[in-house]
Amino acid sequence: MGFYGIVPNKTWEVNPEVLTERERIEDIQAAAARIQRTLLMIPGPTAIAPEVLAAGARPVLSHSDPLLRNFVSESLARLRNVFDAPSSQPIIMAGSGTLAMDVGLANLVEPGDRVLILESGVFAGRFKQIAARNSAEIRVETAPLGRGLDLDQVRRAIESFRPKVMTITHVDTSTGVRLEVEPLARMARERDVLVLVDGVCSIGGEEFHGDAWGVDLAFTASQKALGAPPGLAVLTVGPRARAARENRTSEFPGYFTDITMWLPVMEGYESGTPGYFGTPAVTLLTMLHTALEELAAEPMPIRVLRHAWIASAFKAGIAALGLESVAAPESIANTLTVVRNPEGVGDELVDAVHVEGVSIARAIHPELRGRSFRVGHMGVCGPAEILTTLGAIERGLYRVGHRVDFGASLSAAQQILANPPGQVRSDAAERVMRT
Ligand SMILES: Cc1ncc(COP(=O)(O)O)c(C=O)c1O
Repeated sequence: MGFYGIVPNKTWEVNPEVLTERERIEDIQAAAARIQRTLLMIPGPTAIAPEVLAAGARPVLSHSDPLLRNFVSESLARLRNVFDAPSSQPIIMAGSGTLAMDVGLANLVEPGDRVLILESGVFAGRFKQIAARNSAEIRVETAPLGRGLDLDQVRRAIESFRPKVMTITHVDTSTGVRLEVEPLARMARERDVLVLVDGVCSIGGEEFHGDAWGVDLAFTASQKALGAPPGLAVLTVGPRARAARENRTSEFPGYFTDITMWLPVMEGYESGTPGYFGTPAVTLLTMLHTALEELAAEPMPIRVLRHAWIASAFKAGIAALGLESVAAPESIANTLTVVRNPEGVGDELVDAVHVEGVSIARAIHPELRGRSFRVGHMGVCGPAEILTTLGAIERGLYRVGHRVDFGASLSAAQQILANPPGQVRSDAAERVMRT
């Protein structure tokens, strides 16, 4: 007799006399999922590489230890490369992406300044609240659900509202929509508007050229496409953003959030004379350093292509199950996919997929709650993670009573995974890669 009454032979057989209510197949599957460790596929925090995890096991360093100084200065240089913003000064602060939003926007606006917010999902709402708390005058241009913004609509808004700052959420994690930063930023720049980009769900996974696109201030957080654990906010401050802060006439109301406190500290790390303003999160900095070292081993254009390839495989798998992405093909992100549930299926699907060993996320957009799920595929994510996730989604759908053609999503994804960019062979894969 085998473990828990399962006969250890070639097929799945159970001795009904031994199988008690407590030892149902579901329990056994759940136990198996626990043993294997749940695969983390939410749109952040994301799974991290074992090397990054190991870096966190190092004894805590003094913040003035030459090793830590070196880690920080190398990380700052690498971040400038990831953001492709050679003219900017990166800042790393202990905190999450929301801190970066707060720092980014608050340092650029004074009471009465105008802020134009481009809305493609719920994260624009945070910009609205931050702008309101800084007594800014706000205008919001909203994209239809799942779509990008019309450029003429934005041009008209800039010309009539004449904002000081325009915010762009590069990839909104609630809809899976990616906005095209380049034309939007160019339009704002030409009209002397400061461009602030929330790259929390994009930078490190999507194409991004801070300087060439005319972005004045951009930010992300450690737990997304950078491949580090949560806890660090990362910003790049360009010359125009810095000048806006320095030329401020009213007193800046924040203290920890004041970039004029942080910029000299970061510049000091890079020039070999680090200063102090708040104890840095030394262990997270050590882990971020390793994550960025790993990241630097993969040239950015290759990294961006890898994300596009992996995302295409995932989307092909989802489509093969008859499911639709919320984002339209021309606006869909490569870092995550927001998928509409089949008719009549709610959040129990997310729970069922979890039981199958993969952690995916519920919807957070009010119009999608209970009707869709979100899967992150960024950072340390490859074919193994995509196939495991699609397999778990198939079994999860089956568990919640949906008819599933087992293997359909895996087969569709395999077509693409077997043809990485550069050696795309099948027409189908080529078509998907182009979308
Ligand atoms: C696009 C975007 N902006 C901002 C945030 C806020 O970041 P955090 O949760 O790290 O505070 C998130 C979080 O998911 C995000 O996806």
